[in-house]
Amino acid sequence: MSAENKPYGENVYVTDHPLIQHKITILRDKNTGTNLFRSTVEEISMMICYEALRDIQTRLIEVETPLEVCQSPRITGKKVAVIPVLRAGLGMASGILRVYSEAKMGHIGMERNENTHEPREYYCKLPKKINERVVLVVDPMLATGGSAIDAIDKIKEYGGKRIKFLCIIAAPEGIEKLHKAHPDVDIYIGHVDRELNENAYICPGLGDAGDRIFGTL
Ligand code: PRP
Ligand code: URA
Repeated sequence: MSAENKPYGENVYVTDHPLIQHKITILRDKNTGTNLFRSTVEEISMMICYEALRDIQTRLIEVETPLEVCQSPRITGKKVAVIPVLRAGLGMASGILRVYSEAKMGHIGMERNENTHEPREYYCKLPKKINERVVLVVDPMLATGGSAIDAIDKIKEYGGKRIKFLCIIAAPEGIEKLHKAHPDVDIYIGHVDRELNENAYICPGLGDAGDRIFGTL
């Protein structure tokens, strides 16, 4: 992600990588089936995760290769927790665990009311010592921002301090609302779409991410 690609704030990163954009096109296509949709969400999440963990602390350790002993970096310090916002966030979390399997995982269940578009929390279980971890909150869609804001409120209530929010598609309204509510949270976005429609769906978007990941259309 290029440094100049931050129109929403210093710590709001919008990717400009063609591979991510190419894969988002696959997600948008209404003819993409569940299997390909799910694996593509995983792949995009791995790529966004590389950016989000760019500042993770490492320490040189000694390692013996088949040729010689050398010093090589290993992740140290604060450990990572991945917290998907259910349901759709689960699709991203599995991608992140593929690139960083040492991460602990929590879950927050949020469901938007179809009429008011307000989120309702129905589940929360977080890893121990959440205050000592780098917390990656993942949800493919940032629409009004309500679900992300409430999920992060909850994580902060439990002591979470170093929080990053990762999504695949965001609406401008949602980014602004989330950044205003939690200016300390770094936000990583695959693509910013045009707007929300009257049902608070992102346009052009990809439809209902949870339904498309789990085949519940
Ligand atoms: C979707 C999505 C986000 C939320 C975004 O979840 O995965 O959690 O909507 O909308 P917001 O920014 O306006 O709050 P949904 O509530 O549809 O639940 P699901 O993942 O179980 O389908
Ligand atoms: N949730 C989704 O899954 N898609 C949208 O466009 C908005 C919220």
